[in-house]
Amino acid sequence: MSRATATAHPNIALIKYWGKRDLGLNLPAVGSLSLTLDRFHTTTQVTWGAPRDEVHLNGSPAASSFARKVLAHLDRIDPHRPPCAVDTHNSFPTAAGLASSASGFAALTLAGIVAAGLLYDPIRASILARQGSGSACRSLWGGFVRWHRGTRADGQDSHGEPVAGPDHWDVRMVVALVTSAQKAVGSTEGMIRTRRSSPYYPTWVETSEADLSEGLAAVQARDLERLGTAMERSTYKMHATMHTAEPPILYWQPATVAVLHTVAALRQRGVGAWCTMDAGPNVKILCEAADAHAVARAVGEQVQQVEILGPGGDPTVEIE
Ligand code: PMV
Repeated sequence: MSRATATAHPNIALIKYWGKRDLGLNLPAVGSLSLTLDRFHTTTQVTWGAPRDEVHLNGSPAASSFARKVLAHLDRIDPHRPPCAVDTHNSFPTAAGLASSASGFAALTLAGIVAAGLLYDPIRASILARQGSGSACRSLWGGFVRWHRGTRADGQDSHGEPVAGPDHWDVRMVVALVTSAQKAVGSTEGMIRTRRSSPYYPTWVETSEADLSEGLAAVQARDLERLGTAMERSTYKMHATMHTAEPPILYWQPATVAVLHTVAALRQRGVGAWCTMDAGPNVKILCEAADAHAVARAVGEQVQQVEILGPGGDPTVEIE
């Protein structure tokens, strides 16, 4: 029996991933760029060689669909593995568009590899994590991370790559929590439906590469207006494909729209702040560290809760 505990941070896409070119391997239709966040994290302990397969989430036995996904992921690490026990905790709401699947599968991959006694190679781990949840392949590093779309059918060239560490740029993500309820349409189902039925989907794919180049250049230049503008464009295009799917997918709540207007009004007053949303109603606002409290105050009355997060670091792992 051996045991390892890993901690990983969620990441928020600045240039979005939406749509799969291969469902089974979670290969993306587009490349993406993210920021790993500090403070929020998933901690996952894997016991390699337990009396039976067992999965706990936030202190309780996990729902069987969740447990199946977790155990199937350990099978990817070693198809001949012994029974394993997994105990995972999120320091923030699970499955509410706050990227808990990203930090979750990153932590599970890292703890699993180390508990299994395998050599840890971050690129290999990123390729494995991607198969659990696409966005997880970006949480194997801190700071700004690019996920290569790749072209190979086996997905060996589709993984994360660190583009700038957490100290490169002291920006903030203000998370405006509209609700912590679980989302009605999961991201995989949403992507399948969008790709199948939205007339805008091909345009989304065709124009995403230019947004990615713009985002990467803006990060290198630490140009917030350039990055924020590209991020909002990528976000609105992604949601436009959802809104035009059949049946439509509308994650936005009235408070989501209220926050979008508040941030646009802040910008009119000279505050550099830009919005992004994922597969859920919560809004994440990118701004300078010096403006974060003003942004949080402005959106605070419209939502349940506001959190200010900065760039986070690499995942960590301990062997017991
Ligand atoms: O990989 P998933 O299933 O967590 O999908 C993530 C999709 C978005 O959060 C909407 C965009 C992204 O790039 O993270």
